[in-house]
Amino acid sequence: MYTPDEEKQLSSLLQKLLKESHAQASPAEQVKRLRQALRYAEWRYYVQDDPVISDGEYDQLFHQLKQLETAHPELITPDSPTQRIASGLTENFPTVAHLTPMLSLDNSYNAADLRDWDRRVKELSHARSVRYCIEPKYDGASISLIYENNILWRGATRGDGVRGDDITTNIKQIKAIPLAADFAALGIRRVEIRGEILMHKETFKALNEQRLAENLPPFANPRNATSGSLRMIDPREVAKRKLQAVLYQISFLEMSDQQPVPEVLRCQSGVIKTLHQLGFPTPYSLMKVVHHIDEAIQYLQEFEQLRDSLPYEIDGMVIKVDDIALQEKIGSTTHHPRWAIAYKFKARQATSVLRKVEFQVGRTGAITPVAKIDPVPIGGVTVSSISLFNEDVVREKDLRIGDTVLVERAGDVIPYIVKPIVEMRTGKEKPIVFPSHCPVCGDPLVKPPGEAAWRCVNINCEAQVLERLIHFVSKDAMDIKSLGEANVRRFYELGILRSIPDIYRLDYDRIKQLDGFGEKSVHNLRQAVEASKKQPLHRLIYALGIRYVGETTARTLAQAITYLPDLRHWSMDQLTQLTDIGPKVASSIYAFFHHRDNIHMLEELERLGVNMHNQPVQAKPTGKLSGKTFLFTGTLPHLKRHEAEALVEQHGGKIASSVSRNLDYLVVGDEPGSKLEKARQIPSVQIINEAQFLKLIESA
Ligand code: IVH
Repeated sequence: MYTPDEEKQLSSLLQKLLKESHAQASPAEQVKRLRQALRYAEWRYYVQDDPVISDGEYDQLFHQLKQLETAHPELITPDSPTQRIASGLTENFPTVAHLTPMLSLDNSYNAADLRDWDRRVKELSHARSVRYCIEPKYDGASISLIYENNILWRGATRGDGVRGDDITTNIKQIKAIPLAADFAALGIRRVEIRGEILMHKETFKALNEQRLAENLPPFANPRNATSGSLRMIDPREVAKRKLQAVLYQISFLEMSDQQPVPEVLRCQSGVIKTLHQLGFPTPYSLMKVVHHIDEAIQYLQEFEQLRDSLPYEIDGMVIKVDDIALQEKIGSTTHHPRWAIAYKFKARQATSVLRKVEFQVGRTGAITPVAKIDPVPIGGVTVSSISLFNEDVVREKDLRIGDTVLVERAGDVIPYIVKPIVEMRTGKEKPIVFPSHCPVCGDPLVKPPGEAAWRCVNINCEAQVLERLIHFVSKDAMDIKSLGEANVRRFYELGILRSIPDIYRLDYDRIKQLDGFGEKSVHNLRQAVEASKKQPLHRLIYALGIRYVGETTARTLAQAITYLPDLRHWSMDQLTQLTDIGPKVASSIYAFFHHRDNIHMLEELERLGVNMHNQPVQAKPTGKLSGKTFLFTGTLPHLKRHEAEALVEQHGGKIASSVSRNLDYLVVGDEPGSKLEKARQIPSVQIINEAQFLKLIESA
């Protein structure tokens, strides 16, 4: 897309635009520079997943462009980044005809299926050997994009394959999709591109959490969330869904003035490469061209291991005949091309029987119905317990005890009941009855207006106290490993541990007498508890379990203060001024820091030695690793991950959060994950092993 030189120029252009006023240039020139720079920033952020400027800086430049265009409307072009923003609601999505039908794919499930297919391909093409292009099979919503004279002209859903819905306005909200691309340079006048719109698993998780908090039914999986998002009538809402895209096929091509089709577009891998170079998100870094079906089978098997490490869902791989002339020779049925086949990974759906529903009390008192099903293996994990979220979800799905249910477990997404299989009902199924009183403390349950969950409002309810303790010690909170969930439950039952401050005044002599404990384990427990007193402030804030305060909000709060109890003096107004803290979250924080019991607990914790201050980790500025960033993947032969990371920090280095151009070293151990693949594509990242890493430190 951009040469290294162009990248350098555009990066410095961005910095210049951010720093200086450039009013001496003509408005037309200013508009042009801003568009170039913004487009480059979008590409780095959405396609390369490696931002060059912050969100705030992007907004600042976007605003400048918007102002210039308002003053000079004659300068507005359809590919200006400002043109993504739509005003008003979509009345309807008219159906439109695809330039060529959008076919489906035939499926295969094992190596034997693929060898059969390979044989058929060779028979049909009269070829002795065939080159294949292999790509991931993205589990999203398929789309068709048409670019005419370089400009994105139309975006449509698959529909029935012949006609789909025109969703152009919504498609323009997806910043990974360029509003214009230089097809003209290749002699192309009009082109139809096929691909998939996706939602990252993390975005999906956050969206569902938000929907539950707002009383809306959660989406079953990222695919459904994506399709739902593409059909929203308010384009501004679509923009908030943070959709991603990947484009993998050219399905229609019209050249200008009888120019010949460029050589590179005569094969599938060339198509992907070209789309990649034009600035589209593509499978470019993940595709592989092979010369033999055995090689294909090996790649599929290798790739299946990577499945869960990808940020989005894939449900298999697609193997395509690479040579497009050969594809045409082989042809298609009305349903699918004969020159391509999907290889489906292990199914992540299964059916089972819903035996009963239990009602669990969470740490905020919310009652969660949990389905108990006959244990069933899905994608390598046995599933027997599934959250049903709340009463509305149960009602909406019309679940009954005794129902045969369809269960899905998508990657690291939690298992989910898709639906009851109504056809399997015998008439003996029983309705699910919701309790009117807390199953643990017996207090009457309440359902606050506008909320979906029934709640036990007795803050001394044993279930809540226990859940709060378990949360406090958990991995992402204070991370007191030796005091896991089982020990917390046991100590609670025994009366050794009844409140959070109790953690810091455990009776170790008594614990030593307990079955399963000895000198060593008590020593470890004591050390883990002591060490947790020094945890950074954001962990403590998260550990307190304040409603709506997740890890991100905890970090935001920690950065805003130097001493935790100071939050007592913060007003609602001050709180809502922090990033991503709205009135609901703010009032929860406000209430927490105005409750006498909570203040008392913080005072006790401080007296017991728990850190309440925000002390940024002091990186030794003189350390040999200072200014260098590190990331680890796989298991190292000697060092534990946290030990290696601590070494980096001790020597003034930083731990990166992902592989990007800002990364200096990727340290690779046994069974590395997808980080390695990604790092190989960035020449500036040095890939080293543990021994080389230790050398670096030694020389430091
Ligand atoms: S090629 C004519 N390549 O899978 C062949 N499809 O089950 C068209 N899909 O409708 C498809 N990743 O939406 C192709 N790398 C990929 C794909 C892919 C996902 C979807 C596509 C298609 C469906 C068929």
